[in-house]
Amino acid sequence: MGEIISENEDTFDETHDRRSALTAATSLIMFGGLASGYGTFFAMAGRFLFPSGSNKAWMFVTDVQGIQPGQSIPFSSPTGVRVTITRKSESSPSNPTEESFFALSSVCPHLGCRVHWEAQNDRFFCPCHNGAFDQGGKAVSGPPAADGQNLPRYPLKIVEGALYIEMPYSSV
Ligand code: FES
Repeated sequence: MGEIISENEDTFDETHDRRSALTAATSLIMFGGLASGYGTFFAMAGRFLFPSGSNKAWMFVTDVQGIQPGQSIPFSSPTGVRVTITRKSESSPSNPTEESFFALSSVCPHLGCRVHWEAQNDRFFCPCHNGAFDQGGKAVSGPPAADGQNLPRYPLKIVEGALYIEMPYSSV
């Protein structure tokens, strides 16, 4: 009779141990899932609230001789940001520097029309409402000037005769 009671106690202990282990494992899995979920949420929120610029990259545009003095070319980032890269008329024909070029958004900050470079007037021009911008992107006439809406400017650099632009390659 005593042995039967002892077997029941052993069975009870084994069942209790398995149940405790199962509960601990389930808790661990749930905690891991919650930590992973909240971690992802806070990482996304952090990137949105405190953009660090780490989503930018230098991208190849062209050989420096691919844009002649006074000319401009369109360029788009992988995220769809459209810019116009222009070479100043007065730049050295044979040895241009980074200061010989400038890159400005080609989307008018007023209502989103396409702006274009006018070499003869040394300005960017938006035909929708006669908005005009200087080489630095500063609005100089039309509604953008009245509202202080300038064109965003993007950094350029030259490496071994090739022109590069720094632009976003992903969005939050
Ligand atoms: S949209 Fe460019 S001036 Fe209005």
